[in-house]
Amino acid sequence: MRHFDFKNGELHAEEVALSKIARDVGTPCYVYSTATFERHYRVFAESFKGIKALVAYSVKANSNIAVLATLAKLGAGADVVSGGELARALIAGIPADKIVFSGVGKTRAEMRDALEAGIRVFNVESLAELRALNDVATSMGKTAPVAFRVNPDVTAGGHEKISTGKKENKFGIAWSKAESAYAEAASLPGIQIVGVDVHIGSQIDQLDPFEAAIRKVGDLIKTLRAQGHKIESFDIGGGLGIPYGNNAKTPPPPSEYGALVKRLTANMDVEMIFEPGRMIAGNSGILLSEVLYVKEGEDRNFLIIDAAMNDLLRPALYDAYHDIEGVNLPPRDAPQNTYDVVGPICESGDTFMKGREMPQLSAGDLVVLHSAGAYGAAQSSQYNTRPLIPEVLVNGSEFAVIRERPSIAEILKSEHIPHWLGPKL
Ligand code: LLP
Repeated sequence: MRHFDFKNGELHAEEVALSKIARDVGTPCYVYSTATFERHYRVFAESFKGIKALVAYSVKANSNIAVLATLAKLGAGADVVSGGELARALIAGIPADKIVFSGVGKTRAEMRDALEAGIRVFNVESLAELRALNDVATSMGKTAPVAFRVNPDVTAGGHEKISTGKKENKFGIAWSKAESAYAEAASLPGIQIVGVDVHIGSQIDQLDPFEAAIRKVGDLIKTLRAQGHKIESFDIGGGLGIPYGNNAKTPPPPSEYGALVKRLTANMDVEMIFEPGRMIAGNSGILLSEVLYVKEGEDRNFLIIDAAMNDLLRPALYDAYHDIEGVNLPPRDAPQNTYDVVGPICESGDTFMKGREMPQLSAGDLVVLHSAGAYGAAQSSQYNTRPLIPEVLVNGSEFAVIRERPSIAEILKSEHIPHWLGPKL
């Protein structure tokens, strides 16, 4: 069932008309559907029924604490990559022993906070990081649970900027160095080896790369155990793609992914850890925006909307496709027009879509950009001093603002004119 659908000729999020949200909250804003988050989480988690598994939602995809609290209630863990994300996960009620800490550049302060909280595991990406973690843990009289993120040299991921599992990428311990890394970890008093970790990329639209990575890691686990290491968990990262509604290949459903993982790991005797981000959040949110102007150019028409690349960076950064549609269902005989859909920012890259044929729109009409729940708000900025836009969570017939739009005064409050430039303005 779709939770962003037309009712009475108007697009709704669950039971709430988007025009009502636009009126109450203003545009642009992100709108999320609780029911969709819940469905995605359940479908994903249920595909691993029968095996020991932790679903550690990748907080970076959508880190709003209300979203995290929604998932926490369903039993989700969290994959965090900073002290900030760790704080969010804990505040949202995700138990520390369901939190995994990933990332190539954890600071000592972040390590300390995570050890203090008692997280499940640090996914360590280099020997330098391992040694720093050992120092921090021993200075606190603690032992840090560790899995190495190994780099399986597998090609995966929809875009060069989000492919991570190749050996030229900055991520993970080189495959050839994995065994010596585990040997060093075993010799350090502040480190306890608990598992192995990989993450091969994002928006992956086929199962083969996962299969290749799982097989390689399976062999590594055998080798490591033969060398006396205790390997209890296998974290396979995130990366399963979602349909964006364009002509790109439709990624396999979680049920097929789950069946593959179950089949390939059946004899490994490990707890599986998953770090899905996009799969849970991507199609749980839309970006709601208003048409500011229709500008008739020389050879094309521009639909200038009030959302811009600072609100949703994906099209500018990855040439990503986000389907756009009007909030009001057009009459059957509505004239069609072809638009380049653009935002108000002073860069040509501030273009959501080129040459989109759609029913004619006018200034004041509401539009949505679909599949914007993952890496949308989380990657937004205040470029051009455009305030971060509100996030709204719908739950049935209710909705709540879960991030407010700051005023310009609030944005400027943290900036200061130094004394040599004269008295405060
Ligand atoms: N685990 C690790 C270690 C990761 O680095 C990531 C994503 C995930 C899990 C979650 O991956 P997912 O299930 O969402 O594919 N901003 C880009 C995507 C960057 C992904 C970064 N890492 C985009 O908008 O497409």
